Amino acid sequence: MRVQRVRLPGAVVVVTGASSGIGRATALAFAKRGARVVLAARSVGALERVARQCVDAHPRAEAAWACADVSDEGAMAHVAQTAVSRFGRIDVWVNAAGIGVLGTVEQVPVADMGRVWDVNVLAPVRGARAALPYMRDQGRGVLITISSVLGGAVQAPYMGAYAASKAALVSLDETLRQELALTGGRGIAVCTVLPAGVDTPFYSHMGNHSRRRLKSLPPTTTPERVARVVVRTAARPRRRVRVGPGARLLPWAHTVTPGLVERAVALRTEHGYLDAADTAPVTTGVLYRACDGTASVRGGAHASLRTWGRRAVTAVIGAVGVVGARSALRVGPGRPPTTSLRTRGLPFRRRS
Ligand SMILES: NC(=O)c1ccc[n+]([C@@H]2O[C@H](COP(=O)([O-])OP(=O)(O)OC[C@H]3O[C@@H](n4cnc5c(N)ncnc54)[C@H](OP(=O)(O)O)[C@@H]3O)[C@@H](O)[C@H]2O)c1
Repeated sequence: MRVQRVRLPGAVVVVTGASSGIGRATALAFAKRGARVVLAARSVGALERVARQCVDAHPRAEAAWACADVSDEGAMAHVAQTAVSRFGRIDVWVNAAGIGVLGTVEQVPVADMGRVWDVNVLAPVRGARAALPYMRDQGRGVLITISSVLGGAVQAPYMGAYAASKAALVSLDETLRQELALTGGRGIAVCTVLPAGVDTPFYSHMGNHSRRRLKSLPPTTTPERVARVVVRTAARPRRRVRVGPGARLLPWAHTVTPGLVERAVALRTEHGYLDAADTAPVTTGVLYRACDGTASVRGGAHASLRTWGRRAVTAVIGAVGVVGARSALRVGPGRPPTTSLRTRGLPFRRRS
């Protein structure tokens, strides 16, 4: 991407979802580099606390906050105006607000699916529309959206509504890059960050229609690590960045052996992460309310999940190795050539 780098000290950075998890860690990470941050979410108490921490993080850091529901276009425009009236410009806009809901495609009510798509897909569109007029005037800017490896690269049962929303972001960001290139917005970078599991309160904030309890979580990385990647991406924009355990390996394995990875993820989710039927009440989580009481950077699961992370990565490497070895054996001497060998035009020697 031919975009000027952002100098972080003094840069004006808007972060949605800044009251909790990845957004909160991201706001603090930018503030530690001397940025002037504008925090947006619905939890006023949490925003005030994060704003104070940001100001204390670096002598040049400044902070403002705006209470905003990202599903409200006017509220998003107000966030952008707050940034410009307070600090004069918008250098970086991070769409980090997001929600999830657990349940099969048949179980999750259409209204809740719609709410997830509104907050996860349409809100980043609203964010882009709020920020882009200012970035176009400036001739530069960086728009960063937090998608997910789940949906952006691989799928999982019971997370269909969420995964579809995250897949849509990858698609929309690519379109936006093309449109900006065609309409005089070449100085504006559009970057998609795809984290794997992250230890934030996200899983306790989710709606749940599966009636099953999450007994353990996917392998996780820390929100601080994701935040460092977001800050690096703002300073040196890249189209798509993956972060976290298995974030590169899993999509690669899915390309090589889609059937195997699909089965492995489905079975792991069914037997590893979810408890038996009727172990959890139906809830809409924080889909329709602020997460103020439970907002924090970490969810508290990271330490115990490191082992799971290593196990999962080892299992995927093992499975891919087994499949690779089996295909290699299949094209041994005396066996008929495979389609891939033929189509690639590689020589096949028959045993005489
Ligand atoms: N945790 C993971 O494993 C993981 C992995 C990959 C991607 N992600 C993505 O990372 C992003 C952040 O999630 P997280 O893990 O940090 O979860 P989190 O701790 O639950 O934080 C979610 C944030 O979104 C805000 N939010 C939710 N609905 C909102 C609304 N209608 N209006 C304004 N703000 C809203 C919340 O603030 P208020 O409630 O105060 O409004 C909160 O600040 C999400 O997009 C998520 O999909 C998470």
